Amino acid sequence: MKQPIKYYSITVVAVLVILAAGAGAFAYSGLYNIGADAPHSKPVFAVMQMVRDRSIHLRSKDITVPNLEDPQLILKGAGQYAAMCTQCHLKPGMKNSEIRPGLYPQPPNLSQVHIDPKVAFWAIKHGIKMSAMPAWGGSHDDATIWSMVAFLQKLPGMSPAQYKEIVAKAPPDEDMDMGEGGPSHSHGGDADEDTHGGADMKGMEMSGDDSHGHGAAAAAGREHAAAAAISGNATTAAEAPLSLAGLKPKAVPEAEAAARAFQSALQRGDRAAVLALLAPEVSVSEGGHTQSYEEYASSHLGEDMAFLKDATITPVSLGSMPMGDTAMVGSESTIKTVSKGKPVTLRSREMLTLKQVSGAWRIITVRWQSAPLAEKTP
Ligand code: HEC
Repeated sequence: MKQPIKYYSITVVAVLVILAAGAGAFAYSGLYNIGADAPHSKPVFAVMQMVRDRSIHLRSKDITVPNLEDPQLILKGAGQYAAMCTQCHLKPGMKNSEIRPGLYPQPPNLSQVHIDPKVAFWAIKHGIKMSAMPAWGGSHDDATIWSMVAFLQKLPGMSPAQYKEIVAKAPPDEDMDMGEGGPSHSHGGDADEDTHGGADMKGMEMSGDDSHGHGAAAAAGREHAAAAAISGNATTAAEAPLSLAGLKPKAVPEAEAAARAFQSALQRGDRAAVLALLAPEVSVSEGGHTQSYEEYASSHLGEDMAFLKDATITPVSLGSMPMGDTAMVGSESTIKTVSKGKPVTLRSREMLTLKQVSGAWRIITVRWQSAPLAEKTP
């Protein structure tokens, strides 16, 4: 009675052994063509794609994405990208490179394809086996990799001129081998790679003081900052101070006009005008606290308008920067107001990201930071 099962098992085992031996013999024989110029069959390629996608998905799904709208971060990423990635992944206006036709699998053209930030971070940090994609994590810290990811979010849709401009403004890549004196790293084989040597890193002419300085108090929202200024205990910063580097006055005049309209509507207390300038998907962050359109409209907007109503606002600087099909507008101003009977002066920074929706600029992110201005304390 047990016999048939036994024979059956032996047969199965024998077949498996033969198959394994066959696979081993085939592998050893050298018959498999490992050449990168001999494409996989369709089913094999599909399986490999799936293995790659599932593997990256599983490993990247719990990564926390930092704020990728920080213009400094984007600028830094632009420099990194120009120095290390264009040969394989191209850039706006670049159709091919010497290395690309020979790569298998083909690197995606990142000037056209948008990659999810978590996936991009993981792939850049760890690389992809059996492809030409290197693991950059060995030589770059996470912050630098996030800068590349931040730039990749802006890259698709950028014109060659916009790309050139942002790369020219980018801080030089510290990891880059500047070798025999001078900015001669021509990884790009293309002139504009060389221009990011350090032109205009300051960008916007700010009124001296503290491009990074007000860290400790930066997280306090406007009204909270006023309170903190008086009690003397500002909240500790939960987010990086807003930096306006890289922005230039009149770079995107229409976006600046929309930003000014937004500010003046807030000051006038014109709720409808404020809301008309916000895109439905807007996120508003004040004092390290982020709100959706509905949340902002239903509470904080009222508080902001009330706070600004009795304040004297003096613009200090305003500038903008094109970013693909969006633009950033950053500004700084001083706000004088009276809180609990005492005069307070705040230095406030605002960073807006805007996009064009059927010809009109709408705001998609708002970030505000302010800190008490401790200029003339005795
Ligand atoms: C030597 C060529 C090469 C260089 C240089 C290179 N990559 Fe790649 N990269 C590839 C290849 C090939 C793939 C596709 C691998 C695959 O599909 O299995 C890839 C994939 C990627 C992906 C994943 C895309 C996806 O669809 O999931 C990202 C993101 C990426 N690269 C970013 C970068 C960045 C940023 C740099 C520069 C720091 C860079 N790569 C430099 C060859 C390269």
